[in-house]
Amino acid sequence: MTDKQNIQKAFVCGWPIKHSRSPLIHSHWLKELELEGSYEKISVTSEDFAQFLNSLKENGFAGGNITIPHKEHALELVDDLDDAAKKIGAINTIWFEGDRLIGSNTDWIGFASNLDQYVQGWDNKEKIKKPALVLGAGGAARGIVYALLQRGFQKILIANRTYEKSIKLAEDFGPKLKAIPMGDLENIPSDLSLLINTTSLGMSGHQSISPTIVEMISNLGLETIVTDIVYIPLKTEFLKCAEDRGLSVVDGLGMLLHQAAPGFEKWFKKFPTVSQELRNLVIADMEKSE
Ligand code: ATR
Repeated sequence: MTDKQNIQKAFVCGWPIKHSRSPLIHSHWLKELELEGSYEKISVTSEDFAQFLNSLKENGFAGGNITIPHKEHALELVDDLDDAAKKIGAINTIWFEGDRLIGSNTDWIGFASNLDQYVQGWDNKEKIKKPALVLGAGGAARGIVYALLQRGFQKILIANRTYEKSIKLAEDFGPKLKAIPMGDLENIPSDLSLLINTTSLGMSGHQSISPTIVEMISNLGLETIVTDIVYIPLKTEFLKCAEDRGLSVVDGLGMLLHQAAPGFEKWFKKFPTVSQELRNLVIADMEKSE
């Protein structure tokens, strides 16, 4: 008989939570690694969120993932934060160390590991000296800026529809960052090491990318690596445009898969692999719900 005490339980909570693919990812790893454990989707409203966190221990959870709209609120409710969560200003992963609830943000790991997997040398000595350009200044952009700084990038440009938000982000992260108005994109240096879209532009059902962005991409040097955090569709308009220019592109699905791995290790004590099989599983699920 299985000893129920040894079954680790984890969750993802948010509102709405119906479309989360995290259960698919974690259940795949539990099965692959032959671990006794569970990972469930829990719908939690903003009013109930604090109480939900308070009762985790008594409900036997080892930890879990936190998603929209609770990622910022969770900062105030956990006992301890790692450096990434503090700088990014949001939490997506929590776990217990003894009775203390620890909060972390693993989006930056997801971003960096995705590029590690697909583009060797994306953060080498030469690349980090050249500017990286981030489009957008929301929560996702903060995670990516954190990753770029961790990997040693020396100049990070931020362009956002609302210019004030990009200025605030640059101030928060220090002198290696520079906010640039969207209107100045046409004067961007052509030797960017990286171009990253963190906005919802080009996502299914959202607005298209602007002619200014298309024009900028068409002037980029062929060394620029282009990536998008949007993964529905997998090949976004932004990535298609970069491919037409002959640039190397990396889609955003790997970021989703890799950000999940550190949490899994905290709760279930084994580090999982982001395999092609897992990627195919998630793609099949995305196609099913199209
Ligand atoms: P996330 O956590 O995914 O980053 P967010 O914090 O809501 O989500 O940020 C969304 C980003 O996409 C912002 O940079 C937003 O620009 P604003 O700061 O001007 O709102 C950007 N964005 C969303 N829709 C956009 C659009 N139609 N055109 C340009 N930028 C857009």
